[in-house]
Amino acid sequence: MESETKYDDAVVKKFTIMAIVWAIVGMLAGVVAASQLAFPALNLDIPYITFGRLRPLHTNAVIFAFGGCVLFAAIYYSVQRLCRARLFSDFLSNFTFWGWQIIIVLAAVTLLTGHTTGKEYAELEWPIDILIAVVWVALGINFFGTLYKRQESHIYVALWFYMAMIIAVAVLHIFNSLELPVSWLKSYSVYAGVQDAMVQWWYGHNAVGFFLTAGFLGIMYYFLPKQAKMPVYSYRLSIVHFWSLIFLYIWAGPHHLHYTALPDWTQTLGMTFSLMLIAPSWGGMINGIMTLKGAWDKLRTDPILKFMIVAVSFYGMSTFEGPMMSIKTVNALSHYTDWTIGHVHSGALGWVAMISIGALYYMLPRLWKTEIYSVKLINAHFWMSTIGVVIYITAMWISGVMQGLMWRAVNPDGSLTYTFAETVAAMHPYYVIRLVGGLVFLSGMLLMAYNAFMTVRQAGKEVNV
Ligand code: HEM
Ligand code: HEM
Repeated sequence: MESETKYDDAVVKKFTIMAIVWAIVGMLAGVVAASQLAFPALNLDIPYITFGRLRPLHTNAVIFAFGGCVLFAAIYYSVQRLCRARLFSDFLSNFTFWGWQIIIVLAAVTLLTGHTTGKEYAELEWPIDILIAVVWVALGINFFGTLYKRQESHIYVALWFYMAMIIAVAVLHIFNSLELPVSWLKSYSVYAGVQDAMVQWWYGHNAVGFFLTAGFLGIMYYFLPKQAKMPVYSYRLSIVHFWSLIFLYIWAGPHHLHYTALPDWTQTLGMTFSLMLIAPSWGGMINGIMTLKGAWDKLRTDPILKFMIVAVSFYGMSTFEGPMMSIKTVNALSHYTDWTIGHVHSGALGWVAMISIGALYYMLPRLWKTEIYSVKLINAHFWMSTIGVVIYITAMWISGVMQGLMWRAVNPDGSLTYTFAETVAAMHPYYVIRLVGGLVFLSGMLLMAYNAFMTVRQAGKEVNV
């Protein structure tokens, strides 16, 4: 029998706690940014917290701090169990933990003080980029080293998704961040003009495809069957899902550059690959949901499973919406509008945050070898998250489509029907509604923090008895 104590769970615990902390910080930044869009006076004329600085702080904090810590925790937890081996190196595990936290703090300080490369999701300046590359490669060595010394010959599909994510993110980050430094906190991209835009969106789209999708699909394939106590619905489908998803995603970036200086055929290529992406995405969604086949009743009583299944449903929804938005004629309406923001958050809050929350609740009692403090609180959290996302995204859909239609409306004489200021005024009620949705979601996260704190505390007490 393999002893559980041989696993390095100390590093998983640290990443789990920090994932909850950064979720609250990142979502709080989102809520404040949302309140500034609804009530601009809330910028308070303080440069550090104006919308332009808070927005990248929000995106970096939720994607790389919260999402990143969840990925580290879930990968380190599951790779050890799937390989029946301790993580390759205790030093690298700790190095990745402290390295990642230092990067997050440096990111927060530089973004709030106005230092940015101006490339979306790659805003951090070159010294931090180098640090990210080093920590990421350390994760790669630790992960592949663990695979190398595994005592289980089969490499389960979740590990394939992690592998693809780790390799792709390294390549994307390094190539998109090639820049010429002019000082410690200022650099210029080595690419120019439309090439810069294309490399940026090759990176940007695949940050979504690999960091926010492949990595979290790995989490789905490990934690959903575990929580349901059921085998994955179709292992064959999971393999087809994996290879088709990673092959197609890498080509779809140009859908972010429709109607720009990018050659037209490149835009059409991006659109075509985006449309094809429905197939693997829905294959994955069906595989996740059908894992509950024969055990649907568990959804009535198990709030962690509810988080996971709703997450997979949102994954299906956003991966239907994305391909639709990549069709050029649809994009002509949706681009630059709040529709994109609605799509982003159905993926980011509905899929990424909810599958993360499910995995964190799964790990919490197991890591601290105790029961979860309150299942009722998880249930309350589930409803707050679901209601929060729905309020957020429906507000953005309505506002986005209205915005797009108002911008393109013309009078019979060819003049614009609405001034820009009129479209901004029309957005106002929806911005207030989105703020409410965000507040409800964030309040759910506070419940989670309390539940996690009490779980860890009660574990400590049991040990002392
Ligand atoms: C309480 C929850 C959240 C609130 C209130 C919130 C709010 C916001 C706001 C106000 C914006 C700016 C929108 C604009 O510029 O018009 C934004 C952008 C964004 N948020 Fe969130 N957010 C939340 C959670 C999340 C999470 C969990 C993620 C990712 C895992 C995320 C990812 C993003 C991204 C990627 C953007 C940029 C979208 C784009 O440029 O198209 N957000 N969010
Ligand atoms: C098959 C899958 C998907 C396709 C084909 C797709 C396609 C698209 C398209 C066409 C846009 C609008 C581009 C624009 O007009 O500027 C977009 C924006 C975006 N999508 Fe998706 N999407 C997919 C899934 C997802 C998922 C699951 C997430 C989140 C986890 C996500 C996150 C984003 C983000 C963050 C943006 C905003 C990028 C920006 O402008 O800052 N997408 N996506």
